[in-house]
Amino acid sequence: MKNFKTLSRLSLALATLLTIQSAVAADEPWTEDARAVATGVSPKLLQVLTDAIAKSGAADAVTVCQDVAPKMAKVASEQSGWQIRRVSLRNRNPKAVPDAWERETLEDFDRRAAAGEPAASLERTTVQTVDGKALQRYMRALPTQGMCLSCHGSADQLAPGVAERLKALYPEDRAVGYSLGQIRGAMTLKRAP
Ligand code: HEC
Repeated sequence: MKNFKTLSRLSLALATLLTIQSAVAADEPWTEDARAVATGVSPKLLQVLTDAIAKSGAADAVTVCQDVAPKMAKVASEQSGWQIRRVSLRNRNPKAVPDAWERETLEDFDRRAAAGEPAASLERTTVQTVDGKALQRYMRALPTQGMCLSCHGSADQLAPGVAERLKALYPEDRAVGYSLGQIRGAMTLKRAP
C-alpha cells in the first residue's frame, strides 16, 4: 500500500514536471522570430569573413571583422526591431561583455555542451521585466568551426600575422586559445514588445 502511494505520488510529480517542461519547450511566435533573425545573421558574417580571408589573408580579415561585425549587427537590428550583439565570457571586443542573464546563459550553454547537447543549436529565452515593461530576450550559442581558429585558436593555430594584428587592435583580447567546437560566445537579442 505504502509503495503504491509513493508510486502514485511519483507519477503525479512526473506528470507535473512534464507539463512544466512542455510549457517551457513550446515556442512562442516571438521566440521563432528571434531564432530566425539570429540564425540569419551568423552565416552572412561568416561569408564576409571567409571572403576576406580568401582575398587578403586572416590578418587583414581581423580588421574587416572589427569593422564589419558591429555594422552588420546594427543593420540587422534596424531591419528586425531586435537589439542584436555578440557577447562572450572571454571577449575580444571590449564591449562584448555579457550582462548577468547573458553570463548565466553562456555558463549554461557550456554545461549543456559538456553534457552532450549539440552546441550549434543551444538557445535560451526569457522575458524580463525592466522598469515595469516586458523585455523579450533570446540567446544562441556560437561554437567554433575550423576557420574560426585562425583568429581564435591557440598560438600555433592562429594564421600568420594574426597575433600581431590582435595585439595592435585588441590589447585586452581574451578570445584566443579556443578549440574546435567550443562555444566561443553567443548572439544575443532583446526587444520590448
Ligand atoms: C579573421 C579573423 C576572425 C575569424 C576567422 C573569426 N573571428 Fe570572431 N572575432 C574576430 C574579431 C576581430 C572580433 C572582434 C570584433 C569586434 O571588434 O566587434 C571577433 C569577435 C567575435 C565574437 C564576439 C565576442 C567578442 O569576443 O568580441 C564572437 C562570438 C566570435 N568572434 C565568434 C567567432 C566564430 C564562431 C568564428 C568562426 C565561425 C569566428 N569568430 C571567426 C576575428 C575573427
